[in-house]
Amino acid sequence: MHPDTTILHAGYRSEPGPFRAGPQFSSTYTTPGDPSQHPFTYGRNQNPTWTAWEDALSTLEGGHAIAFASGMAAVAAVFGASVKPGDVIVLPEDSYYAVRLLASGWLSACGVQIRLAPTRGNRQADALDGARLLWIETPSNPQLDVCDIRHLAEAARDRGVLVAVDNTTATPYLQRPLTLGATYVVASDTKALTGHSDVVLGHVATADDNAAAAIRSWRTLHGAIPGPMEVWLAHRSLATLPLRMNRQCASAQALAAFLASQPQVTKVYYPGLSDHPGHAIAARQMNGFGPVVSFELPTRTHAEAFLSALTLVREATSFGGVHSTAERRARWGGDAISEGFIRFSVGCEAIDDIVDDVTRALRATMG
Ligand SMILES: Cc1ncc(COP(=O)(O)O)c(C=O)c1O
Repeated sequence: MHPDTTILHAGYRSEPGPFRAGPQFSSTYTTPGDPSQHPFTYGRNQNPTWTAWEDALSTLEGGHAIAFASGMAAVAAVFGASVKPGDVIVLPEDSYYAVRLLASGWLSACGVQIRLAPTRGNRQADALDGARLLWIETPSNPQLDVCDIRHLAEAARDRGVLVAVDNTTATPYLQRPLTLGATYVVASDTKALTGHSDVVLGHVATADDNAAAAIRSWRTLHGAIPGPMEVWLAHRSLATLPLRMNRQCASAQALAAFLASQPQVTKVYYPGLSDHPGHAIAARQMNGFGPVVSFELPTRTHAEAFLSALTLVREATSFGGVHSTAERRARWGGDAISEGFIRFSVGCEAIDDIVDDVTRALRATMG
C-alpha cells in the first residue's frame, strides 16, 4: 500500500466497534494471580492507548516503537540504555542544543566522553574509532545540515558503533532511518509528527528486540511516561501527516526560493534548494525536504524588525505545526549561528498569504 494509506489506518482496529477506542485513563488494573498473564497491570508499565499509538508508530518506523513523555525523555532513554562510564559518544556540532546540554552535563558527569563533529560532508565518520554510540541529526536543527545515514551507519557498523538518528525534522513520512541501518530512531513528536501544537511527546523505535526491551524497561523504571490523553490526540493527528507534510514541504520549497531572491536575505538554508551542500543526499534519502526553512538577515536588529512586522506568522519556538511560526534562534543561545539567524516553520496556510506576510516584514527591515 502507499504510505499515505498505511498511515491513515495505522493503529486503527478492524474488528467491530469504534475505529479507535477513546483514551483510557487507569493507573490500576484488576490483575488476579500471576501478573505476567495480564497485558495491562499498572499505569506506569502499560496502557492500551499507548499500545494503539505504538502500533501505529511501529508500522511507520519499521521497528518496535516506545512512546515517551517528550522528545528529551526519548533522547535520555537512548543515552541511558546504550552508554556507560568510559564510553565515547559522537554528537553532531549542529543539532538540537538541549541534546548537547544533556550529554555534556549528565553523560559527562557519568564518565562518558563526548566527541563533536560536523554533520556536513559525513564528517562524523572520521570520529568513530573507539566510540560506543553515534548520534545523527539530519536535517539538523537549526542549520538544516544533511548527512548520508546509510553511509554513516555502515561506517559505524564496521567499527561496532551503535547509531541513533534524531528524525524530528523529517518524521518517518519523509525519512525512515531504521531502513537505512540505524539502531535507534528518536523523535520529538511535539513537532511535525503531531503538528497541532497541542502536545509534548516523543518516541524511540528500534528493530532490535533486546534494545527495545531495554528502552521499555528504562521508561518503566524512570517513569517518563506519556499521558493517555496526549497520546490519543497525537494518534488522531497522525492520520493527516501526509496531507500536512505534502502541503508544508511544497510551501517551504516555494518560500525558500522566494527568500533566496530577496536582497535583504544574506543566506538561505533549505535542503530542497539545489545549491544546498546536502541537496543530493537529501533528495536520495528523503521523500520531501521538510517544513523548516532557516535564513539569515544581516543583524539582530534586522531580525527583530522582521519578526515584529509579521502579522500572520507567529513569533514562537517549536516547529512543524499547521500554523507558520518564526523565531530569532540566537535568543536561546547554545547554537553556533549569527544574531540575525531566523528559523521559519512553514505551516498549512495558503502559500500566497505566507509570502505576502514575509514580503511586508522584509520591507520593514529596511526601516
Ligand atoms: C531535533 C529535536 N530533537 C529533540 C527535541 C526535544 O523534544 P521535546 O521538546 O519534545 O522534548 C527537539 C525540540 O525542539 C528537537 O528539535
